[in-house]
Amino acid sequence: MQAWALGAIDTISRPFDAAGLLQRIRAAFPDADGYDETDRGKALNRGVEAAHAVMVKMFEKLPAGEPLQFSDIVAAERKILKAIKHSSLREWLTMVGCHHTDTYRHCLFVTGFAVAFAQHLGMREDDQRRLARAALLHDVGKAFIPTSILDKPTELTADEMAEMREHPRRGYEALLVQGGFPPEMLDVVLHHHEMLDGSGYPNGLHGGQISDIVRVTTIVDIYAALVEKRAYRLQFTHAKAFAMMEDMGAKLDQQLLQAFRPVAFGHY
Ligand SMILES: [Fe+2]
Ligand SMILES: [Fe+2]
Repeated sequence: MQAWALGAIDTISRPFDAAGLLQRIRAAFPDADGYDETDRGKALNRGVEAAHAVMVKMFEKLPAGEPLQFSDIVAAERKILKAIKHSSLREWLTMVGCHHTDTYRHCLFVTGFAVAFAQHLGMREDDQRRLARAALLHDVGKAFIPTSILDKPTELTADEMAEMREHPRRGYEALLVQGGFPPEMLDVVLHHHEMLDGSGYPNGLHGGQISDIVRVTTIVDIYAALVEKRAYRLQFTHAKAFAMMEDMGAKLDQQLLQAFRPVAFGHY
C-alpha cells in the first residue's frame, strides 16, 4: 500500500521467480530505449533530420554522380522509427508537411505512413525497418526526372507523363549499378506502381507476382499522394482519399487497405 501511495505502477509479491520478475519489469518499462517523455520533441526532430539527409543524398547528390550507399539509408531508419513511435504520425506529417519541395515531402509522407502502418500491424522491428527504408527510397528514380516535370504546376502532357513513368526503372537501374541494396528494396523501387489487376507499370505484373512489401508501399504511396498538397490541386480529405482507394477495387489489395484504415483516419 505504501508503494502504491508513492506512485508505484506495479508490485510483485513473494515468492519471486526470475522469469515472472523479468516479465513484470518489462511490462512496466515497455520501451527498452530508456525513453523519457521530455525526449519526444528531440526524437521527432532527429527522425525528420535523418530522413531529410537521405532526401538530399537521393535527389541532389545521386544525380550529380555521388553514390548513394545502402548504409546511408540504414543510418536513418532507426531514428525515423523512433521519431514516429515516440511522437505520432500526425506530428511527423505536420513537420514534414512544411517542406517546400513536393518530391521530398511526398517521400517523407510515404515513410511516415509506412512506419505507422507497420507499427499498427505489430510488425517485428526488423520488418518495420525494412519497410521504412523501402518507403524512404521508393521514388529514388525521380532524381533522374527533370524538376520541370516533377514540379510542374499544371497537369502533365502525354510525353511528360511517359517520362515521369520512367522513374521506377531509372531508380532500379541506379541502385543496381551502385550495388549493395537488398533485393526487396529493388523490388519496391521497380514495382511500386504495379497494380494487382495488371494495369500498372513498368511490367504490368499481376496479383501473385507482386510481393507483400510492394503492396504495402503501393497503398501508403497512393494514400500519401492523395492527402498531400500539390501545386495544381488541393489535398483530398482522409475520408475522400480512402474512398477513392476503395473504388480502385481489384487494383489494390483491398484487405490490406482495410487494415490501413485506422492509420489513414488517424486512430494510431
Ligand atoms: Fe513512384
Ligand atoms: Fe511515390
